[in-house]
Amino acid sequence: MDIVLFGPPGVGKGTQAKLLVERLSMVQLSTGDLMRAERASGSELGKRFDEFMTAGKLVPDAMVLELVEKAVGAAGGKPTIFDGFPRTTPQAEALDALLARLGRKIIRVVAMDVPLADILDRVAGRRVCQDCGQVYHVRYNAPPADGTCVGCGGTNIVQRKDDNEVVITKRFEEYKSYTETVLGYYQKQGVASSIDGMGPLETVYERIRGAIGATTPNGQ
Ligand code: AP5
Repeated sequence: MDIVLFGPPGVGKGTQAKLLVERLSMVQLSTGDLMRAERASGSELGKRFDEFMTAGKLVPDAMVLELVEKAVGAAGGKPTIFDGFPRTTPQAEALDALLARLGRKIIRVVAMDVPLADILDRVAGRRVCQDCGQVYHVRYNAPPADGTCVGCGGTNIVQRKDDNEVVITKRFEEYKSYTETVLGYYQKQGVASSIDGMGPLETVYERIRGAIGATTPNGQ
């Protein structure tokens, strides 16, 4: 009962993953969030992640896979939404092998589609809570005026340091070079669906629910 939310940087994967977690009995596994948490801890591993993330480059597969394996173990067998992972075909193959060892598999990959100009607008206006990862947009989903996060009550709502024009351009190049082809891998397995990612959050959510259908844990 595992799914992948797929698409370019800023398409809305993290936003929708959080809605799915709130409403279904699933957990979110975002490799970007895990790497940012490691970076915030000040560890040596976090510093190595930072070199790649700040440059908008993909973190090498071996480092990502180690992180994912630990996170899947920590989730204790709960159905998982993979967000921002897999991003290369070797990552997709490794995920299949890991889940197969646990008697699980990816049942649906939902590719979100948004025109590039809208993606750039979403990324430029994105703000995130550094404490809990809640995602906002200055116009479409604005943080409270007093700066208090609705997710955790903290006051650390900031702009991500890789949300600048130079790094976004590089992240798109990486997506086109390495990540887009992963969809073909899942199309061959017959588990890929595409949805329109434009429109209000709830409308996009309903499209994702339609794509994953009755195959979710509690069918809500
Ligand atoms: P990561 O954190 O995964 O970033 P990403 O894939 O670039 O995706 P984003 O987090 O930018 O976007 P999103 O699709 O989640 O959009 P969001 O919901 O925030 O990765 C960062 C870096 O880590 C990578 O560059 C790489 O270095 C490294 N990394 C991570 N995973 C890796 C891996 N597997 N392999 C190798 N390296 C890896 O939404 C964006 C904005 O739009 C928000 O402001 C939101 O409020 C707004 N929004 C959302 N939905 C809507 C809507 N319907 N209408 C209007 N606005 C909306």
